[in-house]
Amino acid sequence: MSYFEINGGRKLKGEITVKGAKNAALKAVAAAVLSSDPWTITNFPFIEDTKRILEMIEDLGATVKRGKESVVIDAKNIKTGRMNDDLAKKLRASIILAGPVLARMGEVRMHHPGGCVIGKRPVDMFLEGFQKFGARVKWENSHFKITAKRLKGAKIFFPRITVTGTETMMITAVLAEGETILENAAMEPEIPMLAEFLNRCGAKIEGAGTPTIRIHGVKKIGGGALELIPDRIEAGTFAVLGALAGEKVKIKKCVPSHIRAFLAYLQKAGVKVEEGENEITVWGAKNLKPVNIVTHEYPGFATDLQPPFTLLLTQAKGTSLVHDPIFESRLMFTDALNLMGANIVMNDPHRVTVNGPSKLIGRKIASPDLRAGITLVLAGLIANGKTRIENIYQIDRGYERIEERLKKLGADIKRIM
Ligand code: EPU
Repeated sequence: MSYFEINGGRKLKGEITVKGAKNAALKAVAAAVLSSDPWTITNFPFIEDTKRILEMIEDLGATVKRGKESVVIDAKNIKTGRMNDDLAKKLRASIILAGPVLARMGEVRMHHPGGCVIGKRPVDMFLEGFQKFGARVKWENSHFKITAKRLKGAKIFFPRITVTGTETMMITAVLAEGETILENAAMEPEIPMLAEFLNRCGAKIEGAGTPTIRIHGVKKIGGGALELIPDRIEAGTFAVLGALAGEKVKIKKCVPSHIRAFLAYLQKAGVKVEEGENEITVWGAKNLKPVNIVTHEYPGFATDLQPPFTLLLTQAKGTSLVHDPIFESRLMFTDALNLMGANIVMNDPHRVTVNGPSKLIGRKIASPDLRAGITLVLAGLIANGKTRIENIYQIDRGYERIEERLKKLGADIKRIM
């Protein structure tokens, strides 16, 4: 099993470029299934999660041509609605394929998508949504069977804001008959990106990026070329890295307005940040201050940036409170930081108190999930001595060739196969 070996304590400087957004890529690949014409997706990140969803649509009969940073998807010859069990179990986001596959094939059979260590991640709002479109949902042997001769426009109010739920219902509605209204919808920037592109391909979507989205169903979706927005979570993660281990780090090809709340708290904690149009420069911080954060749906403080920010707070002088109400197990990784010397007390599964500053020391640890995993890499880079991080598939799920990119900043990190 491969692992990362890190020698901590190097000062990092230079430039690092943000890749296309993982969570935009996954949804764009799913949406491409709506069309019988080819979709070209550029700024495409080749990470484990996006490789899995491409394999899933190939398994359904689509053809995929992989370029350096792009893919061309042709879903004309999709031939089945039965999804591969192993792939569905590996990728939680596989549920998003259910909508477009149902719209094209009238039937979906898939294994319950993989759970994950950050929480239970139920799919009730997806299944209820499909029923509102007139589909029948059956549950047999850990599989859903969803069938619909034709999809009818629906009025869906999400009792809780759900990112993938909003995207799935929006995509499903594109080919449904009549009007769909989604209320209490998520507003993450990946959603208007997808809606704008679908509209260029012939869809009629209004209000994406606001809590109410209206979709007028159309008969057909055409092809075209979509450039993915930069990954805002990568950008924020690199900003924490710059503050903790950097002299001066420039984060290129990102959109600072996509991480407004995060950048405001970074500055409150005493980090010097300069924003350009498509870049952020961060200077290493000497006297970090404690701050209290609560994660929130967009445009609030992203839950995916909570783990690196919690690490940052271990280096602040004083006590900070971190409250992450979105997933029930997203703070469990703080055990690993404590093993490295941090002083973090879990108050309840959604809240921790971070007492700092703490000197971190290198350890052998395993990456529990994607965002916790990259945080442990950052911890290793500022720790005294050698850190070994195992289970790095989790990190590869979301960060493309991360060790090569960090090495360019001066980090001492090796992938040992
Ligand atoms: N929820 C339900 N029922 C549902 C769907 C969601 O109870 O049917 C709950 C979830 O369990 C959670 C809350 O609603 O407690 C919000 O979850 P949401 O559906 O918004 O999360 P998601 O769409 O599954 C996406 C990202 C996550 C990111 C969250 C929150 C993708 C593929 N994933 O997940 O990204 O943390 O939104 O912003 O877009 C990551 O990239 O590491 C990651 C976990």
